[in-house]
Amino acid sequence: MIFIKNTSEIEKIRRSGHLASQTLDYVGTVIKPGMTTKKLDKLINQYITSHGAVPATLGYKGFPASSCISINNIVVHGIPGQQTIQDGDIVKVDVTTILDGFFGDTCRTYKIGNVPPNAAALADATYESMMLAIATVHNGSCLGDIGAAIQGHVEAKGYSVVRDFVGHGVGKEFHESPSVPHYGRKGTGMKLRDGMIFTIEPMINEGAWQVKVLSDGWTAVTVDGKLSAQFEHTLLVDGAGAEILTVSS
Ligand code: MF3
Ligand code: CO
Ligand code: CO
Repeated sequence: MIFIKNTSEIEKIRRSGHLASQTLDYVGTVIKPGMTTKKLDKLINQYITSHGAVPATLGYKGFPASSCISINNIVVHGIPGQQTIQDGDIVKVDVTTILDGFFGDTCRTYKIGNVPPNAAALADATYESMMLAIATVHNGSCLGDIGAAIQGHVEAKGYSVVRDFVGHGVGKEFHESPSVPHYGRKGTGMKLRDGMIFTIEPMINEGAWQVKVLSDGWTAVTVDGKLSAQFEHTLLVDGAGAEILTVSS
């Protein structure tokens, strides 16, 4: 079932997306070496709740925190805890807000202090791949165009695309149809239509694409121990292009 959103639903997801993005702007002002991921998660919880929203991950399928914070070789779903953020780390912070019943989902990779060139290049290429994928989206484009844009950009640099986690529809539910793979072939897959809202959230590995989930049932890490980066936006298909809903201004 593919949900086409109406004007009032779109406006609510736009507001939620805006707040999620503002939360990540706020993260950018407070994240620093020496801070535990638990402390950062607490600040995120306070920011979201003080703006009248609910952190969607808290209690979602038992997830225990208000954000996912994934450092270096952790690909996604890092559980905030006693781990300390350090100079040179790349830190993925993924926040999802529920505002007036609607979700907004966004993630950024933060470069902490003096980041090694290979880590900075990985983060930059991941961001570029997301933006190239967004540029393919319009009424009548295909899901495969998104994956092809990401894969083409990062594989040319020797990186790999994580297969185990995909983008997803967003609305009154956290994860709706369609699934949005970050790999694929141009011109294939479902056609996108005006009013569809979904995420593009490429997870790009410096080495092999394979991941494994740790015994906590959440933390996904690269099998080879190398770095991983991620960015995520929530988008609306709108005529000749896409509107990014997780913007802060
Ligand atoms: N925000 C993640 C996504 O982009 C989902 C996190 S689910 C959690 O889809 F339970 F791990 F928090
Ligand atoms: Co998402
Ligand atoms: Co997310």
